[in-house]
Amino acid sequence: MIDSQLKAQIDPARLPEHVAIIMDGNGRWAKQQGHLRVFGHKHGVRAVRSAIETAAELGIGYLTLYAFSTENWNRPQLEINALMELLVNTIEKETPTFMLNGIRLQTIGNTSQLPSNCQKTLEETVEKTKGNNRMTLILALSYSGRWDIIEAVRKIGQRVQQGELSPQDIDESVLNSALNTSAYPNPDLLIRTSGEQRISNFLLWEIAYSEIHFTPVLWPDFGVEDFCNALLDFQSRERRFGKTGEQIQTP
Ligand code: IPE
Ligand code: IPE
Ligand code: MG
Repeated sequence: MIDSQLKAQIDPARLPEHVAIIMDGNGRWAKQQGHLRVFGHKHGVRAVRSAIETAAELGIGYLTLYAFSTENWNRPQLEINALMELLVNTIEKETPTFMLNGIRLQTIGNTSQLPSNCQKTLEETVEKTKGNNRMTLILALSYSGRWDIIEAVRKIGQRVQQGELSPQDIDESVLNSALNTSAYPNPDLLIRTSGEQRISNFLLWEIAYSEIHFTPVLWPDFGVEDFCNALLDFQSRERRFGKTGEQIQTP
């Protein structure tokens, strides 16, 4: 539940349609308390639940969470195993909440690389929740922006080779529709926790005009108030899309 005073500050007419989050800082959070990194990932689940609930309660249409990058496969095997186990357990545990709150689960990324039990749980939950239409929750798993762009270019190359498409007809919409994210609007707001100010190969194509909010809060501590503060920051921005401020104020 969002505190009513905080909620009242957010303009419901100017909410981002799509929020994407780079959930970072679990390892440092654990270390600060003298624990192993995995302890941070476990506590990160609470923040995941809170972000999903907050987004759904406010009426945000799409929430994308960067849960595991292509580059994260280079982490120690024990940490990877723990993250995969946590993923399966969390999805299984949260499915009733998804059903109750009208949340549709989708994934982006090279999910065929995930352990088979993860793939199975994900497929089942995607299928079970496909009719839900209050909010779409997109988990980026074994995902990287460059991977998706390369895959898209391959698909387009095949169409050209088969004579279905001529190179001159390749435009933004052709590339868009070849991406894993083709069914979703581009993120209006990108949040990164933990104080790092980088993109780490997240939605490279899609964030061309996203507003970016960096916060020093480590992911396990990222709560409702932090999410609302990111939304207030978003609402204080003037999105110009190349135009002048005057054009935006008097269209
Ligand atoms: C984010 O926290 C979770 C994943 C990348 C899976 P980190 O594990 O990157 O935590 P830090 O950045 O080392 O603190
Ligand atoms: C980005 O965090 C990936 C996810 C949050 C899943 P990382 O912790 O892997 O990013 P870098 O390595 O610090 O750039
Ligand atoms: Mg990190």
